[in-house]
Amino acid sequence: MTRRSVVAGVGSALPRRLVTNEELAKTVDTTDEWIVERTGIRNRYIASDGETTGTLATDAARRALEHAGIDARAIDIIVLATATPDQTFPSTATKVQAALGIDDCIAFDVHAVCTGFLYALTVADSMLRSGNARTALVIGAETFSRILDWEDRATCVLFGDGAGALVLRAEETENGILATKLHADGRHNDLLFVDGGPSTTGTVGKLRMKGREVFRHAVVNLAGVLNEVLSEAGLTAEDVDWVVPHQANARILDATAKKLGLPPEKVVVTVDRHANTSAASVPLAFDTAVKDGRIKRGDVVVLEAMGGGFTWGAAALRY
Ligand code: UT7
Repeated sequence: MTRRSVVAGVGSALPRRLVTNEELAKTVDTTDEWIVERTGIRNRYIASDGETTGTLATDAARRALEHAGIDARAIDIIVLATATPDQTFPSTATKVQAALGIDDCIAFDVHAVCTGFLYALTVADSMLRSGNARTALVIGAETFSRILDWEDRATCVLFGDGAGALVLRAEETENGILATKLHADGRHNDLLFVDGGPSTTGTVGKLRMKGREVFRHAVVNLAGVLNEVLSEAGLTAEDVDWVVPHQANARILDATAKKLGLPPEKVVVTVDRHANTSAASVPLAFDTAVKDGRIKRGDVVVLEAMGGGFTWGAAALRY
């Protein structure tokens, strides 16, 4: 037996307001046909007044704790992945901590844009395996609607808001997180970025993306890191029950699965209903597939994501 991080519970949260492609097409020069054909997206959820990255993260965390049957006060560490924090500081993780009534634990945000959840999971897993913590709350939460340029049809139709959370427990087991692998290549900073920030413009800024070039890198990088993580876990593609990918574009999901020789029915797809929720997309899709009964205890699940930086990463686990 080895000390490993086991997924004890999962949860997610979405804003109240659902926005369809048709609704968007009333204010943006686009069509439902274009969005569905190029991306697979049909709906997204957009935060209303009073809904923030922190409130969505807190709701997702509460549901994950409930699913795990664990009291919030048992949490030793909160790692929250976001590129859209409530404030520049303090971290949104500490806001979640306060909202959950946890008096003392480690709490911080991780920023790796759409790969943020994989980065957060890897950090939490390391803390658990090293014995520095026993129970972790790992959250991906975003309100990208607040950094979108609603006049840029090439980006504003692609993203949505939401949050997902996992409770991890350190146990002596052969299950849990088997391997993780992370990458970054900052030479591609200019292909996907926000044109503002506290230390440059003193503003929040808006998201900018050269979509076609991001697409090209995504398929290559994701296939590469999936192969790496499988090999590190001593698994082959045939051993995988479910792939839970970052939900950016249905065409990227198809192309990556094909490159790995994975049948499309093993890929969890939620991009049609949630759009791209950046760091929230992997835990949101994971929770969806656990709660609808697809992912079962004992299944081998592979998570992957790629985003701004570029950053990309993957994790293999036995649920
Ligand atoms: O989460 C981080 C990772 N992000 C990604 O992985 C995103 C990766 N990229 C993509 O998913 C795709 O590149 C997009 C969905 C963003 C774009 O699809 P595409 O097939 O690469 O389209 P394109 O950007 O090359 O644009 C094709 C055409 C253009 O018109 P022209 O120049 O051919 O006349 C665009 O102006 O589609 C036009 N277009 C639109 N038309 C209607 C762009 N956006 C829209 C729109 N509605 N919303």
